[in-house]
Amino acid sequence: MEYEEPKFFQVMKYGADADRDVIDMVSGNPDWEPPAALREAVAAYAELPSAEFQYPPSEGIRELREAIAVRRGVDVDRIVLTNGTGEANYLGMARALERDAGDEALLMDPVYPYYPGKTELLDGDPTLVPTERDGGLDVDAVREAASAETALIVLNTPNNPTGAVYDLEKVREVVEIAESVDALVVVDEVYDRFDHTGSFESALSLDSDRVIVTSGFSKSMAITGFRVGYAILPDAHVDAAKTRHMLVNIAGSRPAQYAVSHALEATEEEYYAEARERLADRIDAFTEALDAAGAEYTRPDGGFYVLARFEGFPGTMENVKRLIDEAGVAGMPGDTFGTARDDWLRFALVTPRSLEAAERLVDYFSER
Ligand SMILES: Cc1ncc(COP(=O)(O)O)c(C=O)c1O
Repeated sequence: MEYEEPKFFQVMKYGADADRDVIDMVSGNPDWEPPAALREAVAAYAELPSAEFQYPPSEGIRELREAIAVRRGVDVDRIVLTNGTGEANYLGMARALERDAGDEALLMDPVYPYYPGKTELLDGDPTLVPTERDGGLDVDAVREAASAETALIVLNTPNNPTGAVYDLEKVREVVEIAESVDALVVVDEVYDRFDHTGSFESALSLDSDRVIVTSGFSKSMAITGFRVGYAILPDAHVDAAKTRHMLVNIAGSRPAQYAVSHALEATEEEYYAEARERLADRIDAFTEALDAAGAEYTRPDGGFYVLARFEGFPGTMENVKRLIDEAGVAGMPGDTFGTARDDWLRFALVTPRSLEAAERLVDYFSER
């Protein structure tokens, strides 16, 4: 398999090499502080006996698995700690595709690009399924696409890149479709702390033996470099996921799990609310500027990305480079995220310079 540099890295590199100041709206790295307790736990870890520097249990340290079990209302034995939500998605998708239940994965379009990538890595066949105009689930389209070949359906809510927060009733209908064709549903909830509507409900509440929920702390604790995530699997699939996790990784990172465990216990709701409010302010300011620039966009209900389309300026890689060179703003080309929005651009609002970026876009598009 050839290594293909992700488009994210290509655009970031182009922006970094540009001759001018460029505001990075490409990466999904939160720009705010992690919880104070996380920094304290990292410092405290350095003083622990050397035994604490050795392999943790493969499925992850008990304290963190238990804390997640309590918060998520599930049995601790269903939880496998992973190297980020990325690995949790891989484990869930692999489990679905290795059961001789077919090779097809239904992925919602627009799509987070690592889902088709992982599907292909696992020798599955990705099929993109259209969503509603605002990125919401189109249950009829899922029903139409599902067949005996479908082994896996992947959902992501709150969604990257559309910002849609899925209606739980629609998720329930998708799970029923999965049941009817013997598929598993992986629901990636890594942005669950960034629900701007207050209406997000986890797919865990469906209590289905078809549903694998994945999540992590990269975004909620602003620690994408720590690599701590988890999968919550139905009992029948836990052993297969643990085996794959162990054979690929041996285990995750003990200090990172320790720090997250302490931070999870010590961090008040207020920390998460502050991050959410900061993002909501940025969304207000950015979408106001998009209005002023005459752009079409969908206001995100969750997460921290905005998809926008500018008249006469399709979101191609060529135009992304032009926007970097001529406006000093770096976004992502729409075709990174499937076919549904290939002439749109995606902007990540995880920069304190979001408003400045918006002003640059207004200036640029009003002069064109
Ligand atoms: C939808 C989605 N899932 C998973 C990930 C990766 O999360 P983690 O850093 O926890 O592996 C991202 C990161 O941007 C994402 O947008």
